[in-house]
Amino acid sequence: MKILEITGGEKLSGTIRISGAKNSAVALIPAAILADEKVTICNIPEITDTDNLCSILNHLGVSTKRASESIIIDPTKMKNNEIDEEFSKKLRASYYFMGALLGKYKKAVMHFPGGCSIGARPIDLHLKGFEALGAKVTIDNNRYIVEAERLIGCPIYLDIASVGATINIMLAAVKAEGRTTIDNAAKEPEIVNVATFLNSMGAHITGAGTSTITIDGTANLKGCFHEVIPDRIEAGTYLIIGSLCGENLKIDNIIPEHLDSLISKLQEIGVQLEIGADYITVTRGTNYKPTSIKTAVYPGFPTDLQQPFSIILTQCNGKCKIEETIFENRFMQVPYLCQMGADITVKNQTSTIIGPSKLKGREVVATDLRAGASLVAAALIATDTTMITNVEHILRGYENIVEKLTQVGAKIKSREI
Ligand code: UD1
Repeated sequence: MKILEITGGEKLSGTIRISGAKNSAVALIPAAILADEKVTICNIPEITDTDNLCSILNHLGVSTKRASESIIIDPTKMKNNEIDEEFSKKLRASYYFMGALLGKYKKAVMHFPGGCSIGARPIDLHLKGFEALGAKVTIDNNRYIVEAERLIGCPIYLDIASVGATINIMLAAVKAEGRTTIDNAAKEPEIVNVATFLNSMGAHITGAGTSTITIDGTANLKGCFHEVIPDRIEAGTYLIIGSLCGENLKIDNIIPEHLDSLISKLQEIGVQLEIGADYITVTRGTNYKPTSIKTAVYPGFPTDLQQPFSIILTQCNGKCKIEETIFENRFMQVPYLCQMGADITVKNQTSTIIGPSKLKGREVVATDLRAGASLVAAALIATDTTMITNVEHILRGYENIVEKLTQVGAKIKSREI
């Protein structure tokens, strides 16, 4: 088992270069199989989620060649093999193969996806979308068979603006006959990144990034070259860390507009930021004012940054609240933070944090990806050493986290026990 050992109290300065967005990359890799030719995607983060998707591609007979941050995906010899549980359960985004295989072959057979246990996370909206396009869905013991004689474009309304359902329906609809519209579509930047990729292959998608996406189906998609956008959640996590212990810490290679909700909350509590065209420099402040956040779909405050942001709230002067509206189970880090000295109570979907608290190093568990990121942030300002176990969760989403933090002066070590 891998653990992280972090000794807090260091000031972090220098530059952290942000990697390609995990949530884009994990959709772009399955989307690549829709092409009839090779595609090249650059700025792919080296994280276990992208490695696991490449294993699924190889299982489907798709060759993958990685060179530094790029990947060449060649689907010309692929076969529509069943995706077993051993592959699907390794990550949430394995579900994108459902839409992509359905689009390409009119049939997908795979098991229920895995991912962080942050709530029930059903995929009913994905399946309803496939059914609206003409597919029949059969579920047998967590094994999903989705098949259609023909996929026919149609209007689809999503009850919830789900990121996964929006992308998955887009993946199937690009190869459907006629026009599909997705209403109440999710608007996250990752969706725009996937739509741009599909359009570079020859798809006809308009409106990505708004709540109505229109897709005119096409029979053939060609090879292309594409770039993953910078990871706004990784950037946000390091901005939060910089607000806690940064000294002119530059978060580089980012799109600041993707972080507007976080930036305005940081400025509201008193963090000084220098915002450039593709970077933000942050220095730790003092006497942070208390505030409250409520998570929401983009451009609202991202649920993925709620857990890391809670560490800043432990350092504010007074009472703060976090209301989590997207997932039911995103406070699992709280007992560990309380052991470290934080004053946090959780009732239903709201946590109340009273600061400022002095945090002390303890032995803690990363229960999910962003809970793990919040424990890293807490450990960096805690006295003594914090030992974090279940680090696999963190490595699923943060490329080279140990190296990136070490380079800017953190005392962080990864070791096997
Ligand atoms: C994606 C992100 C995740 C982020 C989340 C919200 C990926 C791989 N993961 O997850 O990091 O936290 O968006 O920004 O991109 N829902 C249903 N039925 C469905 C689909 C979703 O009820 O068929 C519900 C979910 O349980 C949740 C809400 O809709 O309460 C939003 O989920 P969704 O946007 O789909 O999240 P994911 O795509 O799983």
